[in-house]
Amino acid sequence: MITVSRVADLRAAVARARAAGTRRVGLVPTMGALHEGHRSLLDVVRGAGRADFAVVSVFVNPTQFGPNEDFSAYPRTPDADAALVAGAGADVLWMPDAADLYPPGAQTFVEVTEVTKGLCGARRPGHFRGVATVVAKLFAAAQPDVAVFGEKDFQQLQTLRRMTQDLLLPVEIVGAPTVREPDGLALSSRNRYLDAGDRVRALGLSRALLALQAHRAAGETRVAALLEAGRAVLAEAGVDRVDYLEVVDAETLVPLDAVGPAAAPARALVAAFVGRARLIDNMPL
Ligand code: PAJ
Repeated sequence: MITVSRVADLRAAVARARAAGTRRVGLVPTMGALHEGHRSLLDVVRGAGRADFAVVSVFVNPTQFGPNEDFSAYPRTPDADAALVAGAGADVLWMPDAADLYPPGAQTFVEVTEVTKGLCGARRPGHFRGVATVVAKLFAAAQPDVAVFGEKDFQQLQTLRRMTQDLLLPVEIVGAPTVREPDGLALSSRNRYLDAGDRVRALGLSRALLALQAHRAAGETRVAALLEAGRAVLAEAGVDRVDYLEVVDAETLVPLDAVGPAAAPARALVAAFVGRARLIDNMPL
């Protein structure tokens, strides 16, 4: 594995690989503080013939953090990240500089207007504009054939699918299932913010989603009733504040009143504050 920072060096590495017979280049964008969830994305990108050359980017993207969010506190663990990426069989670890991705005077942004309206998009103004912009830049620099994103960040995944279609980018977008702790907590770089008590209360998110799934499996189709069951679990678990709990159309992310076999696929999504962390999770219904 080689480590590069400059875009020119990344392009040279990808060009060498293609000249040497690489057929498909895969990209796994991350912000570092890597864990098993990130590693699973590398397995997905290398699996099923999706890519025979894998690039992992690590970049804490300033434009996707709001003024009162955790950009400067966001965990940065470059040495551990390099060890994990090398151990997971990546070919290139790309750690770009902010000045390389955002040249002086940069004034171009990518905005996906509809799918970003609700959920995290409504609570974190500008967040998905920053995500779409940086991922478009990562695509332009690495020119991958395929890129993998986690279902853990479901609105992000749908936003990037939409962006790729709308901008005619020749990149296949693959979604990968959420990796969880044995007790159900979705792995997240922000779980580092949780103390022992928070860690227990954080289970409220996955448990609430499981309660929605259980009520759905028992025949409940009214979203109001499903949400009531989920809210009761969140309250019981003692999360500090529920940011949202919603049931939406899995593609458009528009809120639904009812779910059922005749309706479009639905997804339940939750965001809640636990201690210093804002955590998110989601599951299909
Ligand atoms: P980050 O939060 O580091 O996540 C990088 C990728 O890992 C995302 O696609 C995310 O969905 C995925 N991921 C995180 N936790 C996961 C889990 N428990 N199971 C499966 N996949 C998981 O998401 C970002 O960075 C940034 O917004 C980025 C796309 C890199 C743009 O800056």
